[in-house]
Amino acid sequence: MGDRISLLPYLVVAALLFCYAGVSVSPIFSDQNRIRVTSTGFYIHNDGDLYNSSISPRYTIEAIYQFGDSISDTGNLIRENPSSNYAKLPYGQTFFHKPTGRCSDGLLMIDYFTRFFKLPFLDPYLNKEGNFSHGVNFAVAGATALNGSTLAKKHNLSGPTNSSLLVQLDWFKTHLNSICSDASDRKKKLAKALIVMGEIGGNDYNWAFFQRKPITEIYDMVPKVIQMIKNVVKEVINLGATRIVVPGNFPIGCMTIYLDMFKTNDIKMYDELQCLRSLNDFAKFHNDKLQEAITDIQRDHPNVSIMYADYFEALKEILQNATSLGFDEDKVRTACCGSRGIVCGDPYKHVNWDRIHLTQHAYQVMAKSLIKPINDLGMPGNSSGSKSSIPQLFLYNLYAIIFCWFILSI
Ligand SMILES: *[C@@H]1O[C@H](CO)[C@@H](O)[C@H](O)[C@H]1NC(C)=O
Ligand SMILES: *[C@@H]1O[C@H](CO)[C@@H](O)[C@H](O)[C@H]1NC(C)=O
Ligand SMILES: *[C@@H]1O[C@H](CO)[C@@H](O)[C@H](O)[C@H]1NC(C)=O
Ligand SMILES: *[C@@H]1O[C@H](CO)[C@@H](O)[C@H](O)[C@H]1NC(C)=O
Ligand SMILES: *[C@@H]1O[C@H](CO)[C@@H](O)[C@H](O)[C@H]1NC(C)=O
Ligand SMILES: *[C@@H]1O[C@H](CO)[C@@H](O)[C@H](O)[C@H]1NC(C)=O
Ligand SMILES: *[C@@H]1O[C@H](CO)[C@@H](O)[C@H](O)[C@H]1NC(C)=O
Ligand SMILES: *[C@@H]1O[C@H](CO)[C@@H](O)[C@H](O)[C@H]1NC(C)=O
Repeated sequence: MGDRISLLPYLVVAALLFCYAGVSVSPIFSDQNRIRVTSTGFYIHNDGDLYNSSISPRYTIEAIYQFGDSISDTGNLIRENPSSNYAKLPYGQTFFHKPTGRCSDGLLMIDYFTRFFKLPFLDPYLNKEGNFSHGVNFAVAGATALNGSTLAKKHNLSGPTNSSLLVQLDWFKTHLNSICSDASDRKKKLAKALIVMGEIGGNDYNWAFFQRKPITEIYDMVPKVIQMIKNVVKEVINLGATRIVVPGNFPIGCMTIYLDMFKTNDIKMYDELQCLRSLNDFAKFHNDKLQEAITDIQRDHPNVSIMYADYFEALKEILQNATSLGFDEDKVRTACCGSRGIVCGDPYKHVNWDRIHLTQHAYQVMAKSLIKPINDLGMPGNSSGSKSSIPQLFLYNLYAIIFCWFILSI
């Protein structure tokens, strides 16, 4: 009897220590950490097949739907306009050894994303023989966020296509109607899909910059472009989408076409990346507004996971680490394809492919840095999606507390 009483303080201390430890290690049992332990490999090799990356998919995606422009088009524009330059070599020379309609020498970021999720490349919507069982690519090179008619009427702007974002949304709805029996079937299917909404909006501005419109006038377009992207994201959420990636704009002041077009001896016009400061500031402005819009949508739809994909930072990292990533430091701001159709010897050394689009190598490095947040999208233990780990952690802690209470009470 006396023995037991003298042991009690030690038992209490031991139990408290145990409980503290139990509560603090409980996150180890969360999904995220289990994945981290079981993942193999520690880095991605230079040839960069994302199948062979240090991370493996944390969730299963059965279909990917891509909206956007030339950054993601896998063959829509060349079906609208077969005489487009993108239907000719050297486009496609590196990977497919023939043109596919991709505006690069090889693969695009969306190709790396689909490979990461172990899906086949996305066929373009306008390919009549396309296999859409695992998703569709609605992106059209030259497409704008705003309606072609709006740009023509209000801004006197036009591009190579009128398949702007709302047209692509109509295609998406038509496609869903063809594969879904009813609304609940559609929601079930979209719950296992990933939507990539962009990059889009870049061309609304490009067409204006190419016409040398005053930049103040182009700033005025930003709220309208953001509103359009916001509306279309909301529409796909209402249709049933639960995972959505919304990319921002590139540091466009680093694009060869603009570096040539707005070349100046005034060093104050260049930023720390040796790119055009005013254009990069403009891209940042668009990106800030886009992130605010995403935050708004996320607030209204807590059950949906929306992610801003930071193309600006991803490309900036390439420019800052060019040599270590295998690019030729002297060639990161010049294009592989010259304006007279001369192609460089080794596109792998270049960041820029044709003055306005990037090389496969650049897209590959960008995709590598973006795949991690995409892979965490909506997963427990991560804040990049909205689904927080709090309920799960709470449950573990509750177990620990009940257990401790039990120990203390004996
Ligand atoms: C992954 O890369 C390593 C090193 O290059 C290679 O040995 C291995 O075969 C690759 N695995 C796959 C599945 O490609
Ligand atoms: C479409 O692609 C899927 C997945 O790759 C494949 O299983 C299916 O057989 C293909 N369908 C046709 C008609 O080729
Ligand atoms: C844009 O085009 C769509 C149809 O493609 C139309 O429904 C919509 O009213 C247009 N919006 C504006 C602002 O012109
Ligand atoms: C519209 O833009 C074209 C150049 O694409 C220009 O020649 C024309 O003067 C512009 N029209 C107006 C009304 O500004
Ligand atoms: C886009 O639509 C306008 C009319 O709204 C038309 O003038 C123009 O030719 C169209 N452009 C293309 C590429 O089809
Ligand atoms: C969010 O999900 C929870 C549980 O899955 C559900 O009870 C709730 O109704 C959903 N809320 C909305 C707004 O869909
Ligand atoms: C670039 O270098 C910085 C530090 O110099 C590093 O933090 C970053 O991870 C590197 N990025 C890439 C893509 O290698
Ligand atoms: C969530 O994902 C982001 C982006 O990949 C990462 O920076 C962050 O560390 C992750 N958070 C946790 C708790 O793992």
